[in-house]
Amino acid sequence: MYNPDAWQHDQEYLSIVNDLLQHQEVQQLEQYTQHHFSNRLRHSISVSYQSYKIAKFVGGDSVATARAGLLHDMFYYDWRVTKFSEGSHAYVHPRIALANAQKITHISDKEADIIVKHMFGATIGLPKYRESWIVSLVDDFAAVNEYLIPKAYLTYFKWRTRWVKKVSEVFA
Ligand SMILES: [Fe+2]
Ligand SMILES: [Fe+2]
Repeated sequence: MYNPDAWQHDQEYLSIVNDLLQHQEVQQLEQYTQHHFSNRLRHSISVSYQSYKIAKFVGGDSVATARAGLLHDMFYYDWRVTKFSEGSHAYVHPRIALANAQKITHISDKEADIIVKHMFGATIGLPKYRESWIVSLVDDFAAVNEYLIPKAYLTYFKWRTRWVKKVSEVFA
């Protein structure tokens, strides 16, 4: 089963993203809710780490994947509240994330493509690199997991509590 804290013990991964994690601008992502149950920092690390593992597995550029994955949602607004005249949130936020990422580190062409194309499916810009596909797909799965899994747990615990109560009533 996927351990959401595994990245904390992965020295190789940490050595790739540690300088980014030290930035106030990255830490600040913790203050924003993402997909109802997660915060934007936790979501970004999760997408970064899972994408990094896949990139490594397929012999891709795991460094660019880990770094761009971490910065792919570097925006500081609540998309349910703030609206832009330039286009939908799906179109605008990857571009804002890229501009913010470029303020704290050098971003290669590949990393820029990973960040800007991560909403492929909701936007039409075709990812140019396989690393961009990886992050985009992992991001889609993360969105589903972060939303559905806690819901499923809650339903299960409610259901279990009801049954425990019923059973204890019978044997009381
Ligand atoms: Fe995003
Ligand atoms: Fe995301």
